[in-house]
Amino acid sequence: MGLLTDLRFVRDDFPVLRYEKVIYFDNAATSLKPVQVIDAVKNYYERMSSNVHRGVHRLSMEASRLYEEAHEEVRRFINAKYLEEVVFTSGTTQSLNLAAYMLGLKLSERDNVVISVMEHHSNLLPWITLSQLRGFKVRIVDIRDDYTLNYEILSELIDRNTKVVALTQMSNVLGTKVDIKRVSKIVRESDALLVVDGAQSVPHMPISVVDLDVDFMAFSGHKMLGPTGIGVLYIRKDVQELLKPSFTGGGIVESVLYDGNGFTVKLLESPWRFEPGTPDISGAIGLAEAVRYLRRLGMDSVVSHERELVGYMISRIKNDEVLAGKLTTYGPQTLEDRGGIISFNVVNSNPHIVASFLDTYNIAVRSGYHCAHPLHQRIRADEGTVRVSFYIYNTLDEVDAMVEVLKEYVRKVTK
Ligand code: ALA
Repeated sequence: MGLLTDLRFVRDDFPVLRYEKVIYFDNAATSLKPVQVIDAVKNYYERMSSNVHRGVHRLSMEASRLYEEAHEEVRRFINAKYLEEVVFTSGTTQSLNLAAYMLGLKLSERDNVVISVMEHHSNLLPWITLSQLRGFKVRIVDIRDDYTLNYEILSELIDRNTKVVALTQMSNVLGTKVDIKRVSKIVRESDALLVVDGAQSVPHMPISVVDLDVDFMAFSGHKMLGPTGIGVLYIRKDVQELLKPSFTGGGIVESVLYDGNGFTVKLLESPWRFEPGTPDISGAIGLAEAVRYLRRLGMDSVVSHERELVGYMISRIKNDEVLAGKLTTYGPQTLEDRGGIISFNVVNSNPHIVASFLDTYNIAVRSGYHCAHPLHQRIRADEGTVRVSFYIYNTLDEVDAMVEVLKEYVRKVTK
């Protein structure tokens, strides 16, 4: 296993790579979209453009069928048991907010929620907001010196008042993979529920929510070849019985009856009860196509492709005479512990300046705090980091090109 063998055909599927001269290393922010996904979205608007679950006419029925089919594609992709467990949202942020509101509003002052120092603001700020409303504590698990999660501290922080453990499966800065199977074994010894931020993991590795034994899993379509505006919250069926939808509106009820004194509301079955309002129909149809695309490639091949790129970039940086001692990289040393993300700094250089320099050579990376400010405090990267994040269409030649530009930058600032 190594690089995807039909890489040339993969690249041909991505119009941006044909039209633009760009080395696209900003995949953790959002991925490029293949023509198959773009066509699926276009087809919906050209051939249906109708609402779902709200009409008996042919076009609405066809849109509803494709919308429901999209739930089924996602269910298979994450190996969930039931379609009812796959709730569509606008993205990871909305998914995590939904989980936080449904769970957090029930907590009180004696309770606590455990998260880690690696969390993206999407899995930090909703818990802080809810803790301010309800008075519970938010406890923070640290990382070890090798940038992996400190599982011993996680065990110590969970007690009988822990109601939720909410952790990322892959840091969007360090690339650190969190062993969610190990985490769920720890969490199952308590009464807490396990919420996982899969924004950076679901697009990049095989996922089985059943094997991982999680209660919630949040992720976005746009980081996995799908359109922006569509995301997923997996909610385990038996947990749903404990929950009330935090957001309500059209499309989620069987009936609302008024008897002169009050209302009787009968909710639809899941997942529809959690999807109020007109959903992102074209986004869902596009996401289904993205899932089919990834399934055809095989998620094991995606893992090994990215591992090859990360390993290559690390060895190029380490063994280069110009770059030696000039770059600080962050993240685990062992490839097994990390995904396709490498964050670094050039010594004494602001990350935005480095990223702008790379951009003048058509190399797109992200710079700054990547919506994970506490983590940057923790790793003492006060001005942020430069982040390279890979996906299926990136090549070793692109890594070589970037290393050459970095060398030029280092020569320029150190002469
Ligand atoms: N969460 C995305 C990132 O890390 C936007 O870049």
